[in-house]
Amino acid sequence: GSTTINIQRNPSFSMINSDDINYFRDILDDNTVIQDEDRLSSANIDWMRKYKGSSKLLLLPKDTDEVSKILRYCNSRRLAVVPQGGNTGLVGGSVPVYDEVIVNVGLMNKIISLDKVSGILKCEAGCILQNLDSFLANECYLMPIDLGAKGSCQIGGNVSTNAGGLHFVRYGSLHGNVLGSEGTLGIITKVSILTPARLSSTNLAFLACEDYSSCQELLLKAKRGLGEVLSAFEFLDTNSMDLVLDKLEGVRNPFPSSLHKFYVLIETTGTDDSYDRAKLETFLVNSMEGGLISDGVIAQDINQASSFWRIREGITEALMKAGAVYKYDLSLPVEKLYDIVVEMQLRLGSSAKVCGYGHLGDGNLHLNISTPNYDDNVFAQIEPFVYEWTAEHRGSISAEHGLGLMKADKIHYSKSTETVRLMASIKKLVDPNGIMNPYKVLPQSIYSP
Ligand code: FAD
Ligand code: MLT
Ligand code: ZN
Repeated sequence: GSTTINIQRNPSFSMINSDDINYFRDILDDNTVIQDEDRLSSANIDWMRKYKGSSKLLLLPKDTDEVSKILRYCNSRRLAVVPQGGNTGLVGGSVPVYDEVIVNVGLMNKIISLDKVSGILKCEAGCILQNLDSFLANECYLMPIDLGAKGSCQIGGNVSTNAGGLHFVRYGSLHGNVLGSEGTLGIITKVSILTPARLSSTNLAFLACEDYSSCQELLLKAKRGLGEVLSAFEFLDTNSMDLVLDKLEGVRNPFPSSLHKFYVLIETTGTDDSYDRAKLETFLVNSMEGGLISDGVIAQDINQASSFWRIREGITEALMKAGAVYKYDLSLPVEKLYDIVVEMQLRLGSSAKVCGYGHLGDGNLHLNISTPNYDDNVFAQIEPFVYEWTAEHRGSISAEHGLGLMKADKIHYSKSTETVRLMASIKKLVDPNGIMNPYKVLPQSIYSP
């Protein structure tokens, strides 16, 4: 079911009237001022079907000029706005809380240029991540981010959330020193991004480990032993695997004999197929001899590789199919990272299935609690415990998904009062009336006079 929101609608925001609609119809093309109930209902609800707004208007600008006109008008009329991309966000940031105007730049999906020497790609913000990567594949370049939602998320959404994903361990943060504002400061209309060369040889291994400390040691060994070719290091636990096998059609366990405690995916990307493969094989043999892995298989072709990735990328969808999901995205020191999964399972007992998976190579744990139905008692056992635990271990409560609506009033667990004040003052400077994605990222208290 959807989450109950305890935030009051900000009374300083206007309600949309017919003059507003006429204005938008005047400045925008036909069929881009959307009031149709069906189209609005999908734009009003998030991917997890947890957060639901009641917007009466969706606008689809076709260029930056239209975006500026929309925002200028909304600001003068005090109409609140929520920027929406592919609406794959997992923290309730991309949907209205009340009746905010939804602005989606999805029609702005042109690739502007690719500098074939430097690898700099310029494109509009509404381009879908996978389309950009397919375009680059023909030019022997690669998008430096990859995530399970690649088929629908937009590059503007990726930049604004500073999405992490599966290749972070190799290519680093999407925009190192630019802040992800989750649509609270403005709307991104174009993106210029440095893309790495697409290398010819990729190998993927699916491994089984019997305890968490082996996964950790394997990561250290992979960093040292695979070094420059390492391009992903992902893990999932037995509950995550079990759920994927149970809930997703056509997924097969690479080790059909039994379930193991942990699974690790190691991907390498390099320039020399036989050298890279030999390197990975030697690494696996050594790890097996050293007792770090109990079983392992290297994908024999691209189809097998995608079936391995399907297991890891499919966890999110499998969790959705299993009922209610309480989703947390934590940054923790790797040696402590799995302790919270164990503690949480002990705390909740058999009433819930606790799943741990994520981007181990970056110290990013996805802690997900699955129950058949939403239960307030379970929730009370999880929060604030999960945030307090994370803060105590000096982790971050938002590793890559952003704060959105879900964690707007939890920011103090990871950021100092001074930092929150600074963020609020930047927000006030850029958006003095607070119309951009209200109720998100920062606590409500900063908006009150
Ligand atoms: P939306 O969900 O539409 O919006 C997200 C936020 O960005 C909102 O606050 C919105 O207001 C803002 N926004 C969107 N477009 C713009 C714009 N043009 N200008 C300004 N603000 C904008 N995330 C990860 O980090 N790593 C993962 O590995 C990952 N895997 C995922 C796997 C699945 C199956 C799913 C469903 C989600 C996953 N996510 C992951 C979360 C999500 O895909 C990312 O946060 C993604 O970057 C969101 O892009 P989007 O276009 O869907 O944005
Ligand atoms: C992932 O790594 O699979 C994504 O961040 C989505 C999720 O956390 O479920
Ligand atoms: Zn993730």
